Amino acid sequence: MATTDSMTADQLRDSFTGFFADKGHTVVPSASLIPHDPSVMFNVAGMVPFKSYFTGDEQAPYNRAVASQKCARAGGKHNDLDDVGRTKRHLVFFEMLGNFSFGDYFKEKAIPWSWELVTGDPASGGWGFDGDRIWVTVHESDDEAEAIWHESVGVPMDRIQRLGDKDNYWQMGDTGPCGPCSELHIDRGPEFGPDGGPLGDPFGDRFMEFWNLVFMQFNQAKDGTRTPLPRPSIDTGAGLERILALKQGVDSVWETDLMQPLIDVAQSLTGKKYLVGDYEDPNSFGLRVLAEHARSSSMLVNDGVFPSNEARGYVLRRIIRRAVRFAYMLGTESLVMPRLTETAIGVMGNAYPDLVKNQDFITSVITREEESFRQTLKNGLSILDTALEDDPSSLSGSTTFLLHDTYGFPLELTQEIASERDVAVDLDGFNVAMDEQRTRAKAAAKGSVDDASLGRYREIVDQFGVTEFVGYTEESAEARVLAVYETDDGGAEVFLDRTPFYAESGGQIGDTGTIVTETGTAEVLDTTYAIPNLRRHTVRITDGTITSGQSATATIDHERREKIRRNHTGTHLLHHALREVLGEHVKQAGSWVGPDRLRFDFSHYEAVTPEQIAEIERLANAQTLNSQPTRIFETTKDEAESLGAIAFFGDKYGDIVRVLEAGDTIELCGGTHVAATGDIGMVKVVSEASIGSNLRRIEAFTGEGSVALLQRDEALIGDVATLVGAQSDDVVGGVQRKLDEIKSLQAEIKTLRAQLAMGRATELAAIANDGVVVTQVDQLDPGELRDLAIAVRQQPTVQTVVLVGETPSGGVALVAAVPKDAQQPASVLLKDAARAVGGGGGGKGDIATAGGKDPSGIQEALQIAAQAVGQFS
Ligand code: SER
Repeated sequence: MATTDSMTADQLRDSFTGFFADKGHTVVPSASLIPHDPSVMFNVAGMVPFKSYFTGDEQAPYNRAVASQKCARAGGKHNDLDDVGRTKRHLVFFEMLGNFSFGDYFKEKAIPWSWELVTGDPASGGWGFDGDRIWVTVHESDDEAEAIWHESVGVPMDRIQRLGDKDNYWQMGDTGPCGPCSELHIDRGPEFGPDGGPLGDPFGDRFMEFWNLVFMQFNQAKDGTRTPLPRPSIDTGAGLERILALKQGVDSVWETDLMQPLIDVAQSLTGKKYLVGDYEDPNSFGLRVLAEHARSSSMLVNDGVFPSNEARGYVLRRIIRRAVRFAYMLGTESLVMPRLTETAIGVMGNAYPDLVKNQDFITSVITREEESFRQTLKNGLSILDTALEDDPSSLSGSTTFLLHDTYGFPLELTQEIASERDVAVDLDGFNVAMDEQRTRAKAAAKGSVDDASLGRYREIVDQFGVTEFVGYTEESAEARVLAVYETDDGGAEVFLDRTPFYAESGGQIGDTGTIVTETGTAEVLDTTYAIPNLRRHTVRITDGTITSGQSATATIDHERREKIRRNHTGTHLLHHALREVLGEHVKQAGSWVGPDRLRFDFSHYEAVTPEQIAEIERLANAQTLNSQPTRIFETTKDEAESLGAIAFFGDKYGDIVRVLEAGDTIELCGGTHVAATGDIGMVKVVSEASIGSNLRRIEAFTGEGSVALLQRDEALIGDVATLVGAQSDDVVGGVQRKLDEIKSLQAEIKTLRAQLAMGRATELAAIANDGVVVTQVDQLDPGELRDLAIAVRQQPTVQTVVLVGETPSGGVALVAAVPKDAQQPASVLLKDAARAVGGGGGGKGDIATAGGKDPSGIQEALQIAAQAVGQFS
């Protein structure tokens, strides 16, 4: 059913963009898979990057555009993850070819152009499909589209079908642009299913849908209401992989030049054979999953998604883990992702050269996830097996929760395994366990607020409005006390109309200080938000009383705030230096800025080396040494982004954002900062550690903290120098000399012990009876006892020795030494004796050792050994 002229993926992309470029469209490169738009988790369609042009929120720089857009459907409304491998066409990652009109042309052009490209002569850039095999669907209400297909394009009425909202109405998500659509399908022939057009082919195997033309007309709000767009627009989407399958005349997307190389590698890694077109065969299913997930995870990591337990990172983790589970089921014990990733990058690298650039990074992130999951998988699967052996009819909520919580099995994975074995998962039980855990976590989190206090806080805001914050510029302010609430612990919460106290947020700790009125003084221990925008001073009244309505002077602890400022701006410098040294993938995952230290958590896939830390410190300190004034200003979010301010996709910022410029860094930030980078003093990293998969934490000092650290270390070195009797600048030499001394003393002790042992050996030889010594010697460790036995045997009057004794650590050591030419091994003498002291031991030669735990059996052991000596030959 292929057209005669095959095409590669690269040629297909070019043919599409070329066709529409000729029709006045601007060719727009693919945007990242991570959308700017928070309503979807990934770019789920070619139109997502253009959303605001459709809604009119932004003026489009062009009226017509064409793109081949990277898409992923693995979360939210558009989620194909669980279908991957089961069908001929579902993929998590795919590319969508699309032409777009932003209020320019509408159906009258979009429809005929699609036909022109699809059926056009390959010699002049068309795809050369046979028009007689193309069927179209339109929305049941769309007379206009039907008329264009029939009258302008000439598609006979019996190949135009009308379908309802489910098939022919397209929405980006629960909100956003939407409208009726019209789809092109190709009849692949009777071998793929029964006749009757798309209407009678719900799986689309015979009448394969390959291009969707959406007539964008509405913007859907959260409550489901639809308002007309400023101007009707066009969004079309043609699945690159599907069209490739058609062009290359293969059964499905899996046999195209994009997927087949991955399937081949999956076959060779697992040793399992791939059966084309077989959707019943579990091996082929698994191989398809491996191929797809290696490609989609590589594309996601390349665009900055990391495996984690949150949102996008969690989806990526699910994708990688699903692949690894299939690899495991297909019987591979060794890692599969490194080679699969490499192959995926090879296949896609031409179209997306940054993949090749990031190859090592991508491979290492995915491989680490595979390594860690393989370990837990083994344990988890055996737990699952045991649970199913105990109760083969269903899988309990508590087991499912255990697998989720302890073994990192996403719920969907457990469900998938369970469904393969025809077992139901107790979802309710799982949800109960999850809820309980959430409640526990909430209770554990400090500051959990009961409804009564929430009501009180809201009343303050209703009556007086939110707290005015003057603390960016003032350290002391005149204010009015709005409310004072006593707390259970004898303290109080004070609310002011305005305050210089920074309330804990954005990682920066709250201010402390004092609030003084005519009648009393309060020491402010902490400042936090009681509810959004209402700043709460947690205080201890140290003198008199404070009542609402009074005038107050609120003054922060200047010294402490200065330290916090230094640490906060220092955090920004470190963030910048981390990205310079480790790479752009470093993203802030959290921070804590206090007066004494700062903590910064970030995404990175391996330990930061001491050399890298030294370089990070050097870069950060270059910024403080070259002291430059910092600049803080407010601007629109878009303007901030265009200045290059670091703000992370998915983070929520208002329309007006606060921007901090410090040295070379520019970031959105609501915190308090120093006036010039030089004020920070020295930035010194004091620790670096892992805090989760692909997450690292560094802690650092600035200002006085760094000075105190240096002084502490200097004092420490001084103390060590004094102890080893050296000068401070020769402390290493001094310690080395002491170590040498210890070494030579140890050698001396060894010699003395040997001499001592020889003395004892002579004593023991004196008690030899007929060449045999069987006796108790305590307080030697097993090695010393063994040496002693050998020394005794060397004595001329002795042939056989058995020594048993309590060791300094309270155990029992046994040694036997027999003549070198004895017929039997020395262990014969200890075999039964060792049992008397609760132990065992062995050896093949003329020396045997054994150990035991029970010194009370030593006498018995000696007797048994003596008997054994009697029978020894
Ligand atoms: N947005 C439509 C789709 O995803 C057409 O691009 O199918």
